[in-house]
Amino acid sequence: MKDILEQLEDRRAAARLGGGQNRIDAQHGRGKLTARERVDLLLDEGSFEEFDMFVTHRCTDFNMQDQKPAGDGVVTGWGTINGRVVYVFSQDFTVLGGSVSETHSKKICKIMDMAMQNGAPVIGINDSGGARIQEGVDSLAGYGEVFQRNIMASGVVPQISLIMGPCAGGAVYSPAMTDFIFMVKDSSYMFVTGPDVVKTVTNEHVSAEELGGATTHTRKSSVADAAFENDVEALAEVRRLVDFLPLNNREKPPVRPFFDDPDRIEPSLDTLVPDNPNTPYDMKELIHKLADEGDFYEIQEEFAKNIITGFIRLEGRTVGVVANQPLVLAGCLDIDSSRKAARFVRFCDAFEIPLLTLIDVPGFLPGTSQEYAGVIKHGAKLLYAYGEATVPMVTVITRKAYGGAYVVMSSKHLRADFNYAWPTAEIAVMGAKGATEIIHRADLGDAEKIAQHTSDYEERFANPFVASERGFVDEVIQPRSTRKRVARAFASLRNKSVQMPWKKHDNIPL
Ligand code: HXC
Repeated sequence: MKDILEQLEDRRAAARLGGGQNRIDAQHGRGKLTARERVDLLLDEGSFEEFDMFVTHRCTDFNMQDQKPAGDGVVTGWGTINGRVVYVFSQDFTVLGGSVSETHSKKICKIMDMAMQNGAPVIGINDSGGARIQEGVDSLAGYGEVFQRNIMASGVVPQISLIMGPCAGGAVYSPAMTDFIFMVKDSSYMFVTGPDVVKTVTNEHVSAEELGGATTHTRKSSVADAAFENDVEALAEVRRLVDFLPLNNREKPPVRPFFDDPDRIEPSLDTLVPDNPNTPYDMKELIHKLADEGDFYEIQEEFAKNIITGFIRLEGRTVGVVANQPLVLAGCLDIDSSRKAARFVRFCDAFEIPLLTLIDVPGFLPGTSQEYAGVIKHGAKLLYAYGEATVPMVTVITRKAYGGAYVVMSSKHLRADFNYAWPTAEIAVMGAKGATEIIHRADLGDAEKIAQHTSDYEERFANPFVASERGFVDEVIQPRSTRKRVARAFASLRNKSVQMPWKKHDNIPL
């Protein structure tokens, strides 16, 4: 028996060594952790239970029978994050470059199936040279199986991808279909075709980092949701994110202990909005002051900064926040911000996370670049996302809510539950200057008359009371009491239930 136990330990030790000490050293030399080190940091200490540690590939082409490393380049299993179950796969670059064989993909599929069955998130750590070249179509078939599971799991369990090395070619489409993608600066990249092919086909000279590194994908393409300095930071931030999320779509988000009085009054908010309606202010200040303990988990912080998306907690319960940012493009909606916010709203709705929308929006950004690139369709995404959402929705208009953007941003007309406005709110078809120039065109040459018309318009419309007279705003509230009002509103909506008409699926404008 002792021999057998020793044999088991020896086999385990060999499997744990992956591609061997030299390759582990090389991995460390690049500032990257190994697949197992990453899993250990991601999960609660000692909670990891591994599956399929001894699985090997079955390929005999190219003398592959002589190279059969245990585990086949991916570490899979489950464990806990602050006590809650998650399933994990972590590609091991030290084993055949983390390349995906038939058996490698089967290991990933196994844990995805288990995650779906047991209603727990899937976290995938990607560090791979792509399809195992020696296996040809068997490898491609494996990817296809993973993709199909990504699609089936979408909206059922949260799926989170960490890119911690190469992720290229068709392989990018698995993370692309997950809910969140996190990258590590300088050691990860994602692209459909790499720099060499780009050079051959388009004659563009670009490095892997420029083409598909963390900065590119968080600032330009919006493929990734955040970029971190190193593996350790990225893994810690994923743990933090998981704490905000429900484990599946049938469960409410977790309730965490909170030490912040929900009735907390914030007198400083009374002066957040400047006297001059064209002076910007930082909407993040409001978010931080509303949140329990000021804790805000921002998603896509570096992209489309004119809109802010992320998670806070109120009375310990997760709330998704969408907020215009007057500091950037005056908080206008445009293509990028509409897409960013629409995707966030849909994630929250799929996973029963209530939505808080903070509004200061002067309208959609004008211009040919926006129109030619289809702002009509992209803006419609956000409208559609709010209109189909059935989660509790609370809206606070701090200042401008003009035109189409007023309707799009969680208005009463799109079934928002509580619509509050600050006394500084201006709800109108457009700003006073623009409106005056249209309806008093005949007086355009007379500065005095135009000034009078503008001031009349401001007096008539630049306030929240016209909308509140019609019930489009439920109440005009004191800025200082916003946290209390919003927390009470969400508390009253905990049992909200809305029926949607039967459909196979919707046809959101893509
Ligand atoms: C088999 C692979 C491999 C692969 C790397 N290796 N990629 N083995 N299939 N796809 C092996 C290498 O042979 C090497 O083995 C070890 O992994 C480490 O690779 P290196 O090249 O030494 O590492 P590095 O210099 O860091 O370069 C990493 C790399 C490069 C940029 C990823 O390995 C590379 O270009 N690999 C091929 C990438 C590729 O074309 N993949 C197919 C893409 S198409 P030894 O034993 O020498 O250490 C695709 C389609 C998916 O993925 C389709 C889904 C629908």
